[in-house]
Amino acid sequence: MKVLVTGGAGFIGSNFVYLILKERPSWQVTVIDKLGYAGNKQSLEGALDKITFVKGNICDEGLIDSLVADSDAVVHFAAESHNDNSIANPWPFIESNLIGTYRILEAVRKHSKRLHHISTDEVYGDLELDDPAKFTDKTPYNPSSPYSSTKAGSDLLVRAWVRSFGVQATISNCSNNYGPRQHVEKFIPRQITEVLLDRKPKLYGTGENIRDWIQVDDHNSAVLTILEKGKAGETYLIGANGEKNNKEVVEMILSLMGKDPMDYEHVTDRPGHDLRYAIDNSKLVDELSWQPHYTSFEDGLRATIDWYTHNDSWWKPQKAETEAKYKQAGH
Ligand code: NAD
Ligand code: DAU
Repeated sequence: MKVLVTGGAGFIGSNFVYLILKERPSWQVTVIDKLGYAGNKQSLEGALDKITFVKGNICDEGLIDSLVADSDAVVHFAAESHNDNSIANPWPFIESNLIGTYRILEAVRKHSKRLHHISTDEVYGDLELDDPAKFTDKTPYNPSSPYSSTKAGSDLLVRAWVRSFGVQATISNCSNNYGPRQHVEKFIPRQITEVLLDRKPKLYGTGENIRDWIQVDDHNSAVLTILEKGKAGETYLIGANGEKNNKEVVEMILSLMGKDPMDYEHVTDRPGHDLRYAIDNSKLVDELSWQPHYTSFEDGLRATIDWYTHNDSWWKPQKAETEAKYKQAGH
């Protein structure tokens, strides 16, 4: 099996590469990543001698065509991924998430290759805090931000290429990931690194917004399951019943790091901030027999804190620039 991983120098993609090397050692892995601000070749340093790494843009038609022609399957992680950035400047999101996905689709169509498209639960919009409902693959799309609307658009492109051209593609929509090698712009690594630098964690608004946390290896084991056992044309929601509000997460980070759990500050809220996400994972569990490995968020969070504590050479180069951007936006 020759698998092309787009965005493999990013957070989830790099963890996926390590999972494949461990679980499917006979597979040949090629990564394409443009090494934008969130892509880091250092994230693949334990894998570079076992994979082919190509620095390039998924919008580059000729490059994508040749890489797809030489693969059996494509797992498409590459995207601009951060909501706050999409509010500051939507264009890179239109480019990578829509045009980039279009290029991938045209190449898999031309060469009749299998595609798994990675998407997000944010395409469904948000739920009320006290609503017992969860997202399913039947929930109507209702994205809020430029990021989530471009992800929704990319999903719709995939569905159209399946229906109109018979492309063999699956889609997964996952909830919020945490774990090692996540950019410090994201909520959990931002707070851990703020505490490591002896500063206070920063909560947007009231801190009551709820996210449904899943450890990144659980996301990726579900992706591998769908790639191998999923039915072409189907959408699978990935989640591990990990709902927590942001305040609870910050308090847990502070306690695990030996600080006063109330020692955080409130900062300007995100415009259009989604209230709550929650995933009904029953299709994945019932039809493909997938189960998450991480059953304790606290244990997963402790291991994540440990990773950032011991890898400051990985995150320190990103930190000052990220905080400067946040300062400008009032966060
Ligand atoms: P990330 O920002 O850490 O990584 C994205 C990677 O894609 C980066 O390495 C970047 O350089 C690369 N990339 C972006 N545009 C590119 C382009 N035009 N050409 C080549 N490479 C490009 O993001 P992540 O958190 O690892 O997310 C990966 C995927 O998973 C995204 O599609 C995202 O929408 C989806 N997702 C993320 C989460 C989450 O919680 N982080 C949850 C559900 C789904
Ligand atoms: O749900 C899946 C999505 O999860 C993915 O599609 C996105 O790629 C990923 O970035 C993530 O989106 P969120 O916007 O939910 O994640 P973020 O880490 O930016 O924020 C998580 C929550 O924490 C959100 O309610 C905003 C809040 N927050 C964020 C930051 C950076 C804070 O309270 N303080 C902060 O400093």
